[in-house]
Amino acid sequence: MPRRHLLPLLVVVASSCVTVVGSFAIAHRHHPRVRIALSAGFGASSTARKKKTKKKKKGLVAALEGGEIQSKKDSRTPQLDRFGLPPPTEESVFPALDDSVLRAPLPRLDAAFNKTLVERAIGDHLGINLENFDDEGLSTHRGEGTWQLNLLHCDPPVFSIDDFFTSEECQEYMEMTAGDGSDDAVQVLSPTFSAASISRRTSTTWFCRYKGVPTLLAKAQRLLDVDLSQIEEPQLVRYRTGEEFSWHYDEIPTKQLANGGQRLATLLVYLNDMDEGMGGATIFRDLHVESRAKVGRKAKTLSVRPQAGKALLFFPAYKDGRPDVRTLHKGEIASETKKIAQLWIHEGVYKASVPDENRQQDAEELVLRENERLGFAI
Ligand SMILES: *[C@@H]1O[C@H](CO)[C@@H](O)[C@H](O)[C@H]1NC(C)=O
Repeated sequence: MPRRHLLPLLVVVASSCVTVVGSFAIAHRHHPRVRIALSAGFGASSTARKKKTKKKKKGLVAALEGGEIQSKKDSRTPQLDRFGLPPPTEESVFPALDDSVLRAPLPRLDAAFNKTLVERAIGDHLGINLENFDDEGLSTHRGEGTWQLNLLHCDPPVFSIDDFFTSEECQEYMEMTAGDGSDDAVQVLSPTFSAASISRRTSTTWFCRYKGVPTLLAKAQRLLDVDLSQIEEPQLVRYRTGEEFSWHYDEIPTKQLANGGQRLATLLVYLNDMDEGMGGATIFRDLHVESRAKVGRKAKTLSVRPQAGKALLFFPAYKDGRPDVRTLHKGEIASETKKIAQLWIHEGVYKASVPDENRQQDAEELVLRENERLGFAI
């Protein structure tokens, strides 16, 4: 990382550490609802011992998960914290949702794209530019690469978009995280934060200059009804073998809403494939692929497997800014390196701070050019 970025970064890091009491930013001062576990406990160690007891899950992913939980530090973890309270667990910080909380999976698993259903699903959320899709959910732009929009869950709405990035674009974005990143992508050492928080994040994040990622921005704007000024610093995230980002919300704590308000949408692009059994999926703990009333308690949890170029879109909050607790999710441990590009859309104008002098308007010209290259311009 260029030396001149170090100071502002350290300031951001230091100020995050000072201002948080009770809620804590892992990778970012805006990180959602995550509380400090006052006792050390969650080591980011990937060299942890393997659990000897039999686990239900098999294979490397399960072994890695077991390893994370059974790190050596755990044996020294006090039973009570310094206030005499039991240290928080994931269950106490993120209590399971009651069955009375409405959740509506797709009415039929094998149903084709249904625009009426999509319109209904996004009624209370940031709008999708549905006029850019036909009745089958295929994008109508004329340039290379047709997207397929899929509705994965009705309420809360979750979408995937196949072929959102071409393989060349995936390659280009993956390369931005080589080494310490380029001048357009500045690495933020998130593992530093994870040891003291209930959400374990052992992945590494790069904050991007807007002008460094015009393709992502142009495509986000083609898909969503959004102005560049609402977009938070786009990020590239790398999860290496055994790394994860455990259960978390993407919403922003109330105290930090001054900058742009709540995050209304999360748009994430998988840059490489993770085959079946390799982990790395994005999992929504409280959402299912079928109605539990129909199939009983065993309804399969909604889980999205990374495929190069596929985008995942969901909404941490309603369009009026109310957070949606149903979108608790995690990045599952992967047995190979997984890379994603992601961005969050805010309610209002968001002012970026990393890397220094990172401004949305500096990307405007480049985004216009991308619109032409991609066949988006009318
Ligand atoms: C689309 O969904 C709506 C609402 O559930 C339903 O009434 C309609 O029949 C569906 N259309 C098709 C073509 O399946």
